[in-house]
Amino acid sequence: MKFFVDTANLEEIREAADMGILDGVTTNPSLVKAEGNIDFHDHVVRICEIVGEGNDVSAEVTATDFEGMMEEAHQLAPLHENVVVKIPLIKAGIKALRALDQEGIRTNCTLCFSPTQALLAAKAGADYISPFIGRIDDISSDGMGLIEEIRQIYDNYEALDTEILAASIRHPTHVKRSALAGADVATMPFGTLTSLLDHPLTDRGLERFLEDWEAYKETRTTVS
Ligand code: E4P
Repeated sequence: MKFFVDTANLEEIREAADMGILDGVTTNPSLVKAEGNIDFHDHVVRICEIVGEGNDVSAEVTATDFEGMMEEAHQLAPLHENVVVKIPLIKAGIKALRALDQEGIRTNCTLCFSPTQALLAAKAGADYISPFIGRIDDISSDGMGLIEEIRQIYDNYEALDTEILAASIRHPTHVKRSALAGADVATMPFGTLTSLLDHPLTDRGLERFLEDWEAYKETRTTVS
């Protein structure tokens, strides 16, 4: 399973990359807004440089018509070879996914909330589909069920090779269940990525090992 970090914050991206397990980054207009007065294109290039070769960075278009989406995609894609153009799952978006696929521009289809939307995106040639698990849970529905259904549908048809990118992840259980359901990628906030490490028994166990090691060293000093 690939791990992406869902942020436009350079410090967080640097720290995640430094852990050595980062495969990419997803951004969206809200995450870009959170970074304040930055130049979007320049920022995307900086993110691509931090994550390094072969790691995908999703940058989203904001146009909602076909021509506008294509124009923005043509500006974003040449910024860096890591750029994946993020396209919203609306009618014009489906058309744009098909056209960009034919041009060899990689895409991430975002704002997916149903299996039939995911089927359309895959038929249009999206490289990634982003089902928003957390936002579905927020309305008391079953985010994880969506991942499972999309997995089953894509597996039914060899020609559908779109990768499932579990998005809107809120906690480690979402990551665990996405992995169990066979999602190809999980994109998560930096805090969730680091909290995958957390377990009180690990902390307690390490504390005990270190105490015992100090006591052992003390014994050796006393003997000699
Ligand atoms: C995915 O690419 C989106 O940027 C993201 O996962 C949305 O998450 P949110 O629902 O926490 O805003």
